[in-house]
Amino acid sequence: HETLIEELTRTIRAIPDYPKEGIVFRDITTLLQDARAFRRSVDALVHPYIGIGIASVAGIEARGFILGGAIAHQLTIGFIPIRKKGKLPADTVSIAYSLEYGVDEMEMHRDSIVPGQKVLLVDDLIATGGTAEAATKMLQEMGAEVVAACFVVDLPDLGGRAKIEALGVPVRTLVEFEGD
Ligand code: PRP
Ligand code: MG
Repeated sequence: HETLIEELTRTIRAIPDYPKEGIVFRDITTLLQDARAFRRSVDALVHPYIGIGIASVAGIEARGFILGGAIAHQLTIGFIPIRKKGKLPADTVSIAYSLEYGVDEMEMHRDSIVPGQKVLLVDDLIATGGTAEAATKMLQEMGAEVVAACFVVDLPDLGGRAKIEALGVPVRTLVEFEGD
């Protein structure tokens, strides 16, 4: 019997020196292609959030859409896309966030949240936490109650988890890769 952590470690591919030298890219496409690993990951992420009144999943473009869509479907709740700037057609709110070089901006539709709405934030991976921190802040500014943030992969050396917890949001991840 293979544990979930063993299965994730086997199916998530490590690409050395991508996108640049010294970075190990944790590639979930190989997990997504493995029907059992994909199903098991979604089931494990969903499990604590069944029947606790969550109204929507908010997924972060692009890789957070794949997992977030599957999680929302399984919970039979709606899905809110958090997108890179300029992609959403209706009235939006936006937030700037830091990347390794410079800044970027993410957006969501203003009418996707009603105050007090319980939301589960989903992405594939948390590294520095800058992306999920910005998404959490934007959701909270819209009046959402961000019940939890969940990810398949944590890179604990980069300290992202603490940034989300500092916003009062518990973080769940399925596997950690240290030394990245
Ligand atoms: C990756 C990953 C997370 C984010 C984590 O997305 O999918 O969203 O980086 O990094 P952080 O914790 O340091 O902010 P990326 O911006 O590469 O875009 P993609 O999902 O569209 O591929
Ligand atoms: Mg991403």
